[in-house]
Order: sequence, then structure tokens, then C-alpha cells
Amino acid sequence: QLKVAAESKASTSAEATKPPSPARQRVKKTPNDFIFGKVIGEGSYSTVYLAKEVSTQKEFAIKICEKKHLIRERKTHFVMREKEVFMKLDHPFFVKLAYTFQDSERLYYVLTYARNGELLGYLHKLSVFDVPCTRFYTAEVIVALEYLHRLGIIHRDLKPENILLSDDMHIKITDFGTSKVLPLNEHGTPVNSPEQRKKNSFVGTAEYVSPEVLNNEPANFGSDLWALGCIIYQCLSGSMPFRSGNEYQTFQKIVKAEYTFPEGFNEEAKDLVSKLLVLDPEERLGMPGTGGMSALKSHKFYAGLDWDALPSTTPPKLM
Ligand code: ADE
Repeated sequence: QLKVAAESKASTSAEATKPPSPARQRVKKTPNDFIFGKVIGEGSYSTVYLAKEVSTQKEFAIKICEKKHLIRERKTHFVMREKEVFMKLDHPFFVKLAYTFQDSERLYYVLTYARNGELLGYLHKLSVFDVPCTRFYTAEVIVALEYLHRLGIIHRDLKPENILLSDDMHIKITDFGTSKVLPLNEHGTPVNSPEQRKKNSFVGTAEYVSPEVLNNEPANFGSDLWALGCIIYQCLSGSMPFRSGNEYQTFQKIVKAEYTFPEGFNEEAKDLVSKLLVLDPEERLGMPGTGGMSALKSHKFYAGLDWDALPSTTPPKLM
């Protein structure tokens, strides 16, 4: 039977005196504390339901994983990793883990309900975003990545399906099953130690995957910046930069960074995307060697944007 380490561990006296944080409730919830509604998401190892907490009438998204299925498919590490990452996160641009519990067959992750669903849905509905919407939503993704990377976490599967939208149309990033967590050194700087540097087999989604991941190179923060470049391109053009007839051809284009801009593509965005879709991850805009996240935020595509005010800014209407 699958034991979820963080849950089955007896609490130490130090832990017992800590006030309950959202994911450290005093008494474990059970499925009976919720009324389950429709399915709002489906993955290979999980189903996400809309649910209402009986005591508060609050809505949540509850991700349920079948233990038997996880064990049979040898995917227990994905759900452990996802919980580990969720418990580190406390930022308005991320889905929050409110509670976890389990019964004999299933694991339950009770998450923020992002009422307006996937950014991808809006992209499909609208085909393309205008420049103000692209600026706003990709700026929120940059602020989110800055926070995530400072914690030593690489998302590794950033894409418009994993960028959800809240009631007030701000982003809530989710899906940390394939994330990588690097340990922090004494200065709080993430380190890629020799053990950490083991080869990374392909994780993520074909269209957004970076060349270094395809080439089996070590985990790198730059992989998320590559995905950001793909997302900016997709928002403005409605198509993906390396889209091809099949996955193999897509991969061939990615490892050569072979793409073109459609006619009329915003000139500032063109400059930005061409500084993100760079083969050497260290050379991408936003990496330490190119001036870090502050250089990315200073790019002319974002000229005049009030970065600190983003969470309290009324989003431009997606239309
Ligand atoms: N689909 C998957 N996770 C979700 C969430 N947290 N909110 C809304 N829809 C989702």
C-alpha cells in the first residue's frame, strides 16, 4: 500500500506547536466533508472534480489519484513531488493546496478552484490575443517564474493548459508533477549538485519542450524561459513556433531552434521571443548571465508596465 511519507510521519513536538498552515490542518478532512460535482480536469494519473466544502460552502478543485493505478504505473514520485512543491508555494499566481487526505484507495489534493479555467481555452476561443492582453498575461507568468525560480523550483511543463484563470481573471499556475526542486545553498541560491545533475529523461509537452531537455541535459531554469518564449509566440500568432506534422519533426525543429515569425508579428515581441528561443539555456533573457529576471522585465515589450501592481491590476479584457 502506498504510504505518503509527509502524511504518515508522526509529528515532532516542534511541529505540534506550529499554528496550522493551510496544508497542515489540525484534523484531517475526509471525502464526506465535501460535495463532489462535475469533472473539471483529467490527467493520466488523476481526475479533478469541482467540490464544495460542506462547512463553509467554499468551492475547491479536488485532484484524486487512484493509489493502485499510481503503483502499477510506477508514478508515485509524480504525486509526491507535486505535494512537496505545492507545500512550498504561497503566491497569488499559483494554485494553493488547502488540504490533503487519503482513503484506502485514493489520494485527495484539495486545491484552489480557478473558476475561469485554462488560458488555452481563451486562446482557442479567440485564436490570438492582442498586444495588451499578451503583455499582461505573459508579465504575470514572468512574475510567477521569478518567484518559483527563487525557491529553486523549475516547473518543466509550463504551457497554456497549466496556466489557469481565477474569478478575477488573474493567472493561477498549476501542475507540478514534473517539476524539479533544486536544494538551496547557505545564501539561498539554488544549486545543481552532482547528484542533482543526473540526466533528465523527457518530461513535459512536445510543443513547449526545450532543446536541452530533448538532448538529455541537466535540469535548468532556462527550460521555463524557453516555454515562456513559446507561449508569447502562441498568444500573438495563434500557433506554436515549432508546430509540425508530427512529434519527431517538431523535435527536429526544436533542437535547431528553427522557427519563423508570421507577417505582422509585433516587432518588440519578435525581439523578445528571439532572445528567449535561444539554444544555449544560459544565453536566454532572464538567466543570470544575461542580466537575470530584471533584464527580462526591462525588455521594451513590457515598457511602462507596473510589475509590482500586477496582482491588484484589473486585467485587460480578453477579446
Ligand atoms: N482543472 C484542473 N485543476 C483545476 C483548478 N485548480 N481549478 C479549475 N480547473 C482545474
